[in-house]
Amino acid sequence: MTGLNKKRLLLGVSGGIAAYKSAFLARLLIKAGAQVRVVMTQGAQAFVQPLTFQALTGNPVHTGLLDPEAEAGMGHIELARWADLIMIAPTTADLMARLATGQAGDLLTTLCLASKAPVHLAPAMNQAMWQHPATQRNAQLLTELGYTLIPPAEGEQACGDIGAGRLPEPEELFSWIENFFKASFLESGQPEPTKKLGEGLRITITAGPTQEPLDPVRYLSNHSSGKMGYALAAAAAEQGAEVQLISGPVNLAVPTGVNCTQVITAAQMLDACEKLRSTTDIFIACAAVADYRAEAVADQKMKKQANQDELILKLVKNPDILATMAKATVDKHKSRPFCVGFAAETQQVEDYAQDKLVRKNLDAIVANDVSDSSIGFGSDENRVTLFTRSDQQINRQALPQSSKQVLGQALIAKLLAFYKEQQAL
Ligand code: PMT
Repeated sequence: MTGLNKKRLLLGVSGGIAAYKSAFLARLLIKAGAQVRVVMTQGAQAFVQPLTFQALTGNPVHTGLLDPEAEAGMGHIELARWADLIMIAPTTADLMARLATGQAGDLLTTLCLASKAPVHLAPAMNQAMWQHPATQRNAQLLTELGYTLIPPAEGEQACGDIGAGRLPEPEELFSWIENFFKASFLESGQPEPTKKLGEGLRITITAGPTQEPLDPVRYLSNHSSGKMGYALAAAAAEQGAEVQLISGPVNLAVPTGVNCTQVITAAQMLDACEKLRSTTDIFIACAAVADYRAEAVADQKMKKQANQDELILKLVKNPDILATMAKATVDKHKSRPFCVGFAAETQQVEDYAQDKLVRKNLDAIVANDVSDSSIGFGSDENRVTLFTRSDQQINRQALPQSSKQVLGQALIAKLLAFYKEQQAL
């Protein structure tokens, strides 16, 4: 564990020959446990491919302000709110000038205006450009505006000139970032320097399958691996929420900072959820709960009968955990949790999801097309559509296919933002 563990770094890269050094910096940050999201200007992409950063950070690279797909994943405002620190390395003379005049013509400059996180700039350019009075005036202006400038290194430049203007080595930039977090910690006495969306909220999440026993050795279940629910729990904890995970039997490690209650059957899952109902602000039902269980569970292993080719099992309906949690409370002073369901469907996915949203009295539902084996049960990736409901209005947002971790972060950010909007009404 380092002081950078779980810190959220937005790494901006603008167009200079030193852009390659940022790839090394991204690697160092990831190795230190930081979460890194990269934003590249158009110029930067002429020097390094976005794919390099995507491979190093495990996250899609953000390149455009008006990219509907990127906005659907993690929109620019969410990205601006997400960051604990924005580091732009290299920062070109042109980017300095645009930041100094408060321009927002591309994604990176927009993020700098929209974010409350500290912004550190590592200028890198030809030594004469660095010394030019216009650049020096911009450096001064930027400092007055609250940006932190990392002095460029001196030495031989890519163009053959000698002087100040080189981007410091990745290790130096890394120490700079490490020191910034150390200093923030000492100053505030808090482990996290900036406020997170989930702070002060209690979130309960169900995950995985349930197993409904038939006899001591057999059960009814499904293919849920728990990956989606665990990714949501990790993302909610990263946002500072107090997270209770109610998990069916899966083979996954409990994410850091998450409290987990292990259950087997739907009845046990309902019991665990109901115990938390009055202390839950947001309830997210991601578990694939068996809709039916055996009416009677055999005490001993059921024996195969030589003269019996068929076995008829009588099943009875399980309680609906989500609908129970979402039921309006009789006592007006005790509000029900804000409830989010998942709808795993193989056909008419969006229609069925919206039907469940209304029928189960939910605030939001995530529609998951499980007919596609690359998304849904057991897969590492997912692609979903989020429906939110306020008054009689239903809003639809499609989230592009990505790892369950990235999707979990995007969903949690969107749900927390929607929850806060509703609370403010
Ligand atoms: O676990 P993974 O392998 O990562 O797969 C993820 C997933 C496909 C399981 C997940 O993304 C998902 O879609 N979960 C919901 C699965 C499901 O049971 O959907 P449903 O449409 O049958 O149920 C609708 C909602 O009611 C769900 O929120 C479910 O948790 C809830 N429910 C259903 C039945 C029941 N008895 N109690 C419930 O709470």
